[in-house]
Amino acid sequence: MAVREILTVPDARLKLVSKPVDTVDDALRDLMDDMVETMYAADGIGLAAIQVGVDKRVIVMDLSENRDAPRYFVNPVITPLTEDLKPYSEGCLSIPDVFDEVERPSKVKVEYIDYDGQKREEIAEDLFAVCIQHEMDHLEGVVFIDYLSRLKRERAVKKVQKLVRQRAAAE
Ligand code: NI
Repeated sequence: MAVREILTVPDARLKLVSKPVDTVDDALRDLMDDMVETMYAADGIGLAAIQVGVDKRVIVMDLSENRDAPRYFVNPVITPLTEDLKPYSEGCLSIPDVFDEVERPSKVKVEYIDYDGQKREEIAEDLFAVCIQHEMDHLEGVVFIDYLSRLKRERAVKKVQKLVRQRAAAE
């Protein structure tokens, strides 16, 4: 396993639409293992493959308190189960230190293929619903600041660029 570099805005690859996975094989599991290690190292709760530069429809997540229950979603499909929208202050490993409110359906169905290649279906609510919808957006080339005003979005990108420059200078 290895920690990979996380792309940050305005990297053009974050705008790509990710491609469906054909088979869950050892190469894909290696990618998923790296993604989990990368997510833990960055103290995140979710990560999409495109955030490490791989345009495949793969998401990892860990919402557990002890950070010991990684979850894997290959080719996920979500269906909203309610018109009730809930606001949540979202953040993103590709947009470090920026948080803002996004409204999303509070309950969705998630269909996906798991780490072992098995088809699964679940109902997501609360933080799970927020997180899976946020990560699904990455697969479509969308980041959460795309939902904000142009002013806020531009300010966020500038903030991230400054942070990335500072980090590079500190190395
Ligand atoms: Ni994100």
